[in-house]
Amino acid sequence: MRCSTHFMTGLSIWMCVMLSIVPAAVVPSDGIGEVLDGPWDNIRLPENIKAKAYKLSLNIDWEHMNYTGTQEVTMDVTGEDTKYFLIHTVGLVIDKEATTLHKLGGKTDEELTVKRTFMDTEKKPELRHDFYVVESEETVAAGSYKMKISFAGKVQTEKLTGMYRSKYARTLQDGSTEMIYQVSTDFEPVDARSAFPCFDEPAQKANWTTDITVTFPAGIDINEYNIISNMPLKEALTRENQIISGSFMESVPMSTYLVCFAVSDFLYKEDVLTRGDGSQVTMRVYARREDEFQESASYALNVTSKIIEEYEKFYKVPYPLPKLDQIALPEFNSGAMENWGIITYRESSLLYNPTTSSTAEKQRVCSVIAHEAAHQWFGNIVTMAWWNDLWLNEGFASFVEYYGIDAAEPSWNILDFFYPDEMTTAMNFDSSPSSHPISVQVSSPEELSGLFDTISYRKGSSINWMMMKFMGDDTFAKGLAQYIDDFQYGNAAMVDLFNSLNKVADVNVTKVMLTWTLQMGFPYVTTSLDNTTFPGSTIISLKQERFIVGEAKPDDISEYGYEWHIPFCYRYKVKNGAVKTSGIHWIWSDDDTSKTVTVNETIEWIKGNVDGNFYYLVNYGADNLAALATALENKELDGATDKTSLIYDVFRLAETGHVAYDKALDMTKYATAEKEYVVLSRILSEVLSAGDGVKTNETAYGNLWKYVAKMLKPRVDDMGWDPKNESEPITAPKMRDMALRNYCKAVQNETDTTVKEALAKYTEFVADPGTKKSEIKDVFTTVMRTAIIYDDKNNTNWQAMWDLLQKSDWEADQKIYIAALARTKNQTVLRKMIDDSFDENAKAGTWRYLYYVSYHGDHYDLAWELLQDKWDDYAIKYNTTSFTMGYLVEIPEVFDTQAKYDEVAAFFKKKEYNIGTGLKTVEETLSKIKANIKWKDDHYEDVASWFTKLTFE
Ligand code: BES
Ligand code: ZN
Repeated sequence: MRCSTHFMTGLSIWMCVMLSIVPAAVVPSDGIGEVLDGPWDNIRLPENIKAKAYKLSLNIDWEHMNYTGTQEVTMDVTGEDTKYFLIHTVGLVIDKEATTLHKLGGKTDEELTVKRTFMDTEKKPELRHDFYVVESEETVAAGSYKMKISFAGKVQTEKLTGMYRSKYARTLQDGSTEMIYQVSTDFEPVDARSAFPCFDEPAQKANWTTDITVTFPAGIDINEYNIISNMPLKEALTRENQIISGSFMESVPMSTYLVCFAVSDFLYKEDVLTRGDGSQVTMRVYARREDEFQESASYALNVTSKIIEEYEKFYKVPYPLPKLDQIALPEFNSGAMENWGIITYRESSLLYNPTTSSTAEKQRVCSVIAHEAAHQWFGNIVTMAWWNDLWLNEGFASFVEYYGIDAAEPSWNILDFFYPDEMTTAMNFDSSPSSHPISVQVSSPEELSGLFDTISYRKGSSINWMMMKFMGDDTFAKGLAQYIDDFQYGNAAMVDLFNSLNKVADVNVTKVMLTWTLQMGFPYVTTSLDNTTFPGSTIISLKQERFIVGEAKPDDISEYGYEWHIPFCYRYKVKNGAVKTSGIHWIWSDDDTSKTVTVNETIEWIKGNVDGNFYYLVNYGADNLAALATALENKELDGATDKTSLIYDVFRLAETGHVAYDKALDMTKYATAEKEYVVLSRILSEVLSAGDGVKTNETAYGNLWKYVAKMLKPRVDDMGWDPKNESEPITAPKMRDMALRNYCKAVQNETDTTVKEALAKYTEFVADPGTKKSEIKDVFTTVMRTAIIYDDKNNTNWQAMWDLLQKSDWEADQKIYIAALARTKNQTVLRKMIDDSFDENAKAGTWRYLYYVSYHGDHYDLAWELLQDKWDDYAIKYNTTSFTMGYLVEIPEVFDTQAKYDEVAAFFKKKEYNIGTGLKTVEETLSKIKANIKWKDDHYEDVASWFTKLTFE
């Protein structure tokens, strides 16, 4: 046998020399004895080392936006002996010589000899596991150890992740502007490692003690600056010689992605929550120091206390920290981030100006706060063991937030919005062949970021709602409190949750729920009624099938065979009698033939899935469907959510050929009489999306808009432009904005009275935006968009709005301006706008301009052309962050020809190397185009003919 040292460890080389008989060894080296393989080959940290505590010290140079630091981590080694200590770090300069290791526990800590230190990439350049490896001379046994690392890094100024700089232009008294900077952090999922070395996995919970020092250049008034972090300061900041410095109290055990600090000159508003037992939580909302920002912080403060009090009751575990800060940052990557004790927001998610902000902004602020506050329990106290169960964080926060909002704003009846906002959005996404199960395998950072999607959030929240509805509201709440109690300060996996719920439930939650979490998609249940076999009784037959739009992928198999355990229930109308509600009948996936339920009454119709509580569709026979159409018209079926879910189901089944499209469209004819916002908005969106499919047919498309105008006219007339009184329900401003906005667009007539009113309001507003905004705050979107749709040849309104955008400090308004500006028909203007969106000072984020342009039917081609042209510029800015790249990749999903499909597929293939976090969305976009092509083949004729045949007096 030939002795080659090339693929051998030190030990095998020794054996080879001594005995010359050993087989080829398994661990390769680089030829000079350096081991190449090791625990760094695995993307996960070794299981035998657990971080216990960190002492982090950072020294930030404000002028140069860089820093030095030391990280001292105490850890426990268990199980297998080791000589490698792996810790995450990326993009930092580590002082390798200064890295030390100590064994703790003896009389004095014993310093261990560090044999060498290296990055995983020094072993294998292709590894991107972000490991810094510290190799000890001796193999160490189980026990406590301490590692100290000195490092230097740069504050990010190009990206909004890790430790980054944000900024805004402050207008001074003389009208000039000055840039004001903030330094803060945004780590989830894996950017903590870019700010300092740490064990950057969610199950590595440890106590953090942090010291932060900031050195400012001359000319900055350091007395205006403050530093906040997860915990309160031990004592007041010291301020001396342009240096401020502070030490924070030790945290509770927490995951690295929740560590946060922020340095700014912001001011705060404060409130103290005092509990029955006298204990207190100090709540602060930090924002820019200018008056209008400070005035806009009170609403957040006010709702936060109510929300926290509600959650303490709900979870039966108190908010564990002595304080809760919330800060509105001028530049922020997502909407908000739930860092423990210091929640960070983009400004439009936290600030609400009572004079000028809309009801929609108020609702946004309240729901984001409720969401992030929910994470203080679901996520922070109990954390998913690994990212594959991200839905245990996001799906729960997205569910619990409804109860937080309900506590803060009971008059909104927010629970009525669960079905239309969560369930339908989830099902739209989840019916695609490129969807994925809630629980998935993930490892690379891009894959992790791609997981923050509709499935984790909205399918997650929807199946929580479903569990609540089959277990019973109170039982479910009890089960969740049990879960928080079982796993507090620890980590949990999906089955842990189900086990906690099983302790209180009377169904086998695990058995039922695995069919919903381990397979993607959802079923539709076909119902049929038999009134003749036993006169006086009705036999209801129920059959489940997988619902999917398009073809399943060839390798798409599920261990449950795409069958589910389904809690079925229904409303039904007794012949010549009342409308009643059934209890739950389980359709088990192991029921082999179709299931039947017998009712001792003659039934005229049933409406399955009462109140849209469950995550499936219901299909009806022709007679039942006709009876339901009548029941909609004569208001026998009158619950808003029942009506919404009926319309939703019927259109999904029409798209997939289970219901005739004209029958579905016929069901919208009663809508002139529909006064419920959620129902009418569903109908409108179904009609618009069917209409979009026939936009190449002039008559049909023309009739679509006439139909929409006619449908909305009665609502335009009863809502008017102004609130009727102070106590309008929250659905009133929503209805008003929806009806006016779509009506003004649909009538396509600048002499229409409502359009003229909108244009007049725009003119008044432009003349005096400061005072006029408050008068049109709830119809602001309508007024801005109508002004652009009916703009003159010189783009006068557009120019005026562009100037307003440049002057605006208020992000929520900026978004509305950009969305309106994107509606101009003038493509030359749009091209220039997209160029300008790359300006360093562009408002509200570069990506948003193109995204909004892409929403406009006339500009599908333009948006796609510009996306391709500027792809690399967008990728540089966004391809490591979570949501944005997905939005950009989504742009061509509106196409419906094979030629476009090929073009889009070829483009993304070519760009595969820099799509980053948008990679998963490429597949979804392509599936969507395929589905559009199929829709056209299957339904174009029917739908075009339905619209063409419409008559209008
Ligand atoms: N944990 C997320 C923030 C986040 C998002 C981190 C993506 C990493 C990647 C936070 O709780 C969140 O979900 N924020 C939402 C707002 C919320 C109201 C749905 C957001 O940022 O849009
Ligand atoms: Zn969240």
